[in-house]
Amino acid sequence: MTSVSEKSRASTQDNTLVDPISAHPAFNRTESQIAIAGHPIHAMLVAFPIALAMCTLGADGFYWWTGDVFWARAALWASGMAFLLGVAAGVSGTIELLMVRGIRIRAASWTHFVLAVMLLSILGANWGYRLSGYEQAVLPWGIMLSLFAAGFTGLTGWHGGKLVFDYHIGTSPTGRD
Ligand code: HEM
Repeated sequence: MTSVSEKSRASTQDNTLVDPISAHPAFNRTESQIAIAGHPIHAMLVAFPIALAMCTLGADGFYWWTGDVFWARAALWASGMAFLLGVAAGVSGTIELLMVRGIRIRAASWTHFVLAVMLLSILGANWGYRLSGYEQAVLPWGIMLSLFAAGFTGLTGWHGGKLVFDYHIGTSPTGRD
């Protein structure tokens, strides 16, 4: 088997550029380890914070429109569950990131980690801000935080999809398992 340094040396000789990271033997081992019957737990969990972040923005919008306190209470619960389930998704994703060599070696995985940790802090702030008075919290800062959280959720989720669909992270190379 050709070693990484041999491949890099060969590429220097024939003037073709080879990314030394992609020449690493572990680069293509990306299969999810935190999974149930081969289905990644992280991918199952992320649907909840994504949907709940959007629900928080929706509930804030309905409170602004109707003035009904029900929607302010709904936003409190939605923001809290978005944060807590986001942390659960983050824990499963982080274990995966640290355990699987093909995931750990890719810069894109770490970009997703940084985006996700920023998102979790925004989701936590949106919930924490409402705890000392959920009705007064909505306008104007609560709804602005929700808008920011919804946008950042879209960015993080889009990037997570990029990991799976562009880099095949978490997928099985054999199509089985
Ligand atoms: C905090 C640390 C996080 C880490 C280390 C992490 C890591 C990962 C990894 C390794 C994948 C590839 C699939 C897999 O192996 O399961 C992934 C996919 C994904 N992540 Fe994260 N993630 C984190 C948090 C989040 C959060 C908070 C969200 C919520 C927006 C999120 C959204 C996604 C999405 C939508 C996918 C694509 C799932 C699919 O289409 O199958 N991630 N993430």
